[in-house]
Amino acid sequence: MARNKNQSVGHFHGPIRRCSAEELHDALGRLERAGAGRLGIRLAGLLRELIRTGGLPAGTLMPPSRSVAEAFGVSRGVVVTAYEQLLAEGFLLARQGSGTRVADSVTAADPAPTPSVPPPVARPGLPDLGGFPRTRWLAAYRHALMTMSSADFGYGDPRGHQQLRAELAVYLRRTRGAVIDPEYVMVVNGVAEGLALLADVAAATGRRHIAVEDPASPGARDLMARRGITVVSVPVDGEGIVVDAIREPGRLGAVLLTPAHQYPTGVILSAARRHALIELARAHDVMLIEDDYDGAFRYARDPVGCLQGLAPDITVLLGSVSKTLAPALRLGWLVAPRAWQEQLVARRVVTSLAGQAMDELALAHLLLTGGYDIHVRQMRRRYRTRRMHLVEELGTASPDVVVRGDASGLHLLAELPPQVREQTVLSSLRLNGFDVQGLAECRMGSPPGAPGGLVIGYAALAPASITRLVSVLSQAMG
Ligand SMILES: Cc1ncc(COP(=O)(O)O)c(C=O)c1O
Repeated sequence: MARNKNQSVGHFHGPIRRCSAEELHDALGRLERAGAGRLGIRLAGLLRELIRTGGLPAGTLMPPSRSVAEAFGVSRGVVVTAYEQLLAEGFLLARQGSGTRVADSVTAADPAPTPSVPPPVARPGLPDLGGFPRTRWLAAYRHALMTMSSADFGYGDPRGHQQLRAELAVYLRRTRGAVIDPEYVMVVNGVAEGLALLADVAAATGRRHIAVEDPASPGARDLMARRGITVVSVPVDGEGIVVDAIREPGRLGAVLLTPAHQYPTGVILSAARRHALIELARAHDVMLIEDDYDGAFRYARDPVGCLQGLAPDITVLLGSVSKTLAPALRLGWLVAPRAWQEQLVARRVVTSLAGQAMDELALAHLLLTGGYDIHVRQMRRRYRTRRMHLVEELGTASPDVVVRGDASGLHLLAELPPQVREQTVLSSLRLNGFDVQGLAECRMGSPPGAPGGLVIGYAALAPASITRLVSVLSQAMG
């Protein structure tokens, strides 16, 4: 409001905007009298909001308290209280002879967010969020809350609650073939926090070079790079990471990889490569970081056990419930060899102090009672059907597109024929609301002539959306 009715009145750091008591009254409306005695504080709140949202820009000269009191029909003391409050907080400044004005350093808050952003569709890595087991989670959460001890409401163990660590150890042994002592399980806020902790500890111990699969998740790669790690790219072929292509292994601190379902190609790391990698890691003191991000979902065969089960002394296993339950829970695990444990825990104390005991205990209950297994089984059936549907429709509408990778996880890689430009198809899909990832984004160095590809998340795609996506894709391919 003051923006449109500015008047230049003088000399205080250039022109001063003056605001009248009537304008304030127009902007704020009637001062509700409920809760007598607090009118000054309420007026202060309204003025503060007006300043924050830019309604009273920096430098605006406030009207005298007497005229504001008259305009609002309140006593002058009410306005003086409000002004004093905002003067004390720094929203207003008073200078002798210059009146009271809005402080220059107050930044207007961002405009209100635009409502109703459509949910991302076909984004790789997202489970079907509509399938979140609300009732089961609520029951598990209620159980956690009602059975927690008073001490559980404190900061607790920085590795996470002992009950969850114990349940995770049982679960990961049973489903992933991991070798685990609950003492060495650390609960983290998702794989992302686990990676951040590892990057920090690696950097602090001189392991500044970390090899990463190429292509890979750009997010994981960027996270490492932003924490001072030099990311070294290693190509991936039909057997997973090409161990022979790792140059100067003596300089490497760690290798980050996705053995169960390479992201984004979907390849399973072959047994021969597993052994070659372990051999190299042992020979050169390289830490293996296994991102087991979607290990729970296999459709055509039994799950392949984790790499950590083969070499628990040099492998860190990372996983989370982001793909099985929901990313919003921010619950994951990091299972590290004993030698790394102390530094990781020390780092976590610095960054997070402790975990979220209520969520941790709810997940522990869900694991213990079998609710987690039931949910994973239900989602596995749903995702298997969706994947089959997508593969069939692609085969019919675009037979030139090659579906790469194992039948597992929440996404597939659709390789485009050489003459089709990835960017053209991507733009068309995105224009139609499909948030598909381009393979180019996942690559560090694109080999000349490498075919384009689309990383399509199908887990949250209903059958009609799958049909539409394929139709947009085949039209864009021409
Ligand atoms: C390769 C990869 N690893 C891990 C994750 C999961 O991260 P978080 O557990 O932090 O949600 C993702 C998420 O999309 C991913 O793409």
